[in-house]
Amino acid sequence: MKGIILAGGSGTRLYPLTRVTSKQLLPVYDKPMIYYPLAVLMLGGIREILIISTPQDLPNFKALLGDGSWLGLSFSYMEQPRPEGIAQAFVIGKDFIGGDPVCLILGDNLFHGNNLSGILKNAFAANTGGVVFGYRVQDPKRYGVVEFDENGNVIGIEEKPQLPKSNYAVAGLYIYTNEVVEIASHLTPSHRGELEITDVNREYLRRKRLRVKILGRGFAWLDMGTHESMQQAASYVQSVQNRQGVKIACIEEIAYRLGYIGGQDLRDIASDMKNNDYGQYLYEISQIKRTEIAKWF
Ligand code: G1P
Repeated sequence: MKGIILAGGSGTRLYPLTRVTSKQLLPVYDKPMIYYPLAVLMLGGIREILIISTPQDLPNFKALLGDGSWLGLSFSYMEQPRPEGIAQAFVIGKDFIGGDPVCLILGDNLFHGNNLSGILKNAFAANTGGVVFGYRVQDPKRYGVVEFDENGNVIGIEEKPQLPKSNYAVAGLYIYTNEVVEIASHLTPSHRGELEITDVNREYLRRKRLRVKILGRGFAWLDMGTHESMQQAASYVQSVQNRQGVKIACIEEIAYRLGYIGGQDLRDIASDMKNNDYGQYLYEISQIKRTEIAKWF
């Protein structure tokens, strides 16, 4: 399974914050936004990850994340010159994907909840087409929206409908068989000039091979694409972390817990942030056996 993080977009919704930097590099409480989707792919056990961003912003992602070896991962980078849609990721990433299945996550989506790792691994193992995640929201008009029949079967998906057929939004985490490369290559741009991920999902639905897995009320799915939603995500992270004393989306901790790096690696990473809470957390974690940490979750 290959992973893709899409961190492109013109970012105008967050101006002036994003005039000189990428949205997905902005802070969300104590870490850059891209840590949150990256943590999700890591929890799914994915180690080969393509990061797609604009030509202007890509050098900063490379400076932050490098080749991934410091986390026991492998990062590749490719450009999306213009914001021409989420599904374009599969056209841009064709060579990276090769013959493998792929999991795409949007760079401004935060997922948090119990057993995310198990949910993802089960979805990967059982997938014979596409798997998307439905989540109840108050304002479905902003999203791709799922339509169900009276038996709860999915019968349609619409992108940003004026009259949503349900309150279930399609979250920005998509799992596909390798056919997605072919499906994406045949898409035509929508009225907003984008290759729509919703059209990919509709094609899998037409082929009767789309599953919509509902993330229940114990789960948090937040997008961080507006000033308000970024602030809400930061407050959420702060509240949960301070209450539990455990960090959300700490990619260094996850790499250690999964056995990709050792305790000394973690201390080396922490060495230039000893004076802050993040560095101290890594240092403390490095003293605890990974088998013990695994019991926390
Ligand atoms: C995109 C997708 C939409 C999905 C949403 C999740 O919306 O087009 O189907 O529900 O991400 O964050 P956009 O970010 O383009 O507004």
